[in-house]
Amino acid sequence: MKKILLTALALMMILPLTGVFAGGQTEDGAITVGANIYSFQDNFMNGVIKPELDRYAEELGLELDVVDSEGQQAKLNDQVDIFITKGVDVLAINLVDPASASSIIEKAKKAGIPLILFNKEATEAGVMNTYDKVWYVGTNSAESGIIQGEMMVADWKANADWDRNGDGAVQYVLLKGEPGHPDAEARTKYSVKAFTDAGIPADQLALEADPNWSTTHGNDKMAAWLTSGFGNDIELVICNNDGMAFGAINALKAANVQLPLYGVDALSQALQHIADGEMNGTVLNDGVNQARATLDLAKNAAMGKTVTEGTNWTLDTDGTKAVRVPYVAVTPENYKSFQ
Ligand code: BGC
Ligand code: CA
Repeated sequence: MKKILLTALALMMILPLTGVFAGGQTEDGAITVGANIYSFQDNFMNGVIKPELDRYAEELGLELDVVDSEGQQAKLNDQVDIFITKGVDVLAINLVDPASASSIIEKAKKAGIPLILFNKEATEAGVMNTYDKVWYVGTNSAESGIIQGEMMVADWKANADWDRNGDGAVQYVLLKGEPGHPDAEARTKYSVKAFTDAGIPADQLALEADPNWSTTHGNDKMAAWLTSGFGNDIELVICNNDGMAFGAINALKAANVQLPLYGVDALSQALQHIADGEMNGTVLNDGVNQARATLDLAKNAAMGKTVTEGTNWTLDTDGTKAVRVPYVAVTPENYKSFQ
């Protein structure tokens, strides 16, 4: 009896101390992270973010599980439920639908688990303030469009022959990413705005969006545009990401047409297209640092620390509780330093 009492007493003394690490910690004491990618089909998410999540988790000694949400928000909701049942210490979530953050935040809040959203910023107003343990890691979406736009305007001004019909305006086609995705919306808006801001009229000949930002979409749309009634009028191809740009390049090559063409992400294949003169520029979307920031914040949050403690990240001062990794212009002049 005395022994049982002593054991119970000892347990009572130990438990509060280990309480900080409660949850799904494995026996060896590692912090467990439940994470997802909205779709493993996405060039940038699967080719840049995921490998660095895997690598950096190992460096930090985190137990990381990354699942594929296959482009379905309902699937992600279920995956989050499973992570919570398993007792993960922290969630790192790439929303499928940027307008559905509240459902995920509510689940995390109910379970008392910290949540790091990454890559797709929540679009519901004020939703980040409904839970004290939710943060966002991504970029300033507008910045990518502004940089892409500035690059295009500078090149347009330097190449008088790009104005094929000599009307002083740029006739462009635009491959857009997921409608409603803050990156797609901002890139579409600001890339074109750069022309009009510079006093160059911009005529949109066509715009097609793809929720999957895919190479297939870029190929199919570009091929269709080239054989359409305005096929010969196209002077410039604007792509919200490199994945779609690769498809457009395929279609252009197949039709034996060369047009100025720009992307975003700076995937290694894009750098090669720049080297080969098939692409005029892209914008580095620094997925490596976004993955690192996501896990740095996740680890700190799981340990009950201030999320940026011991890191070089800073939270935006605009109340969005976000770490925003900067974009960088990648041109034929500087692309080698990104290889
Ligand atoms: C990237 C795209 C990607 C999308 C996925 C964007 O930031 O630039 O390539 O498809 O995120 O959410
Ligand atoms: Ca023109």
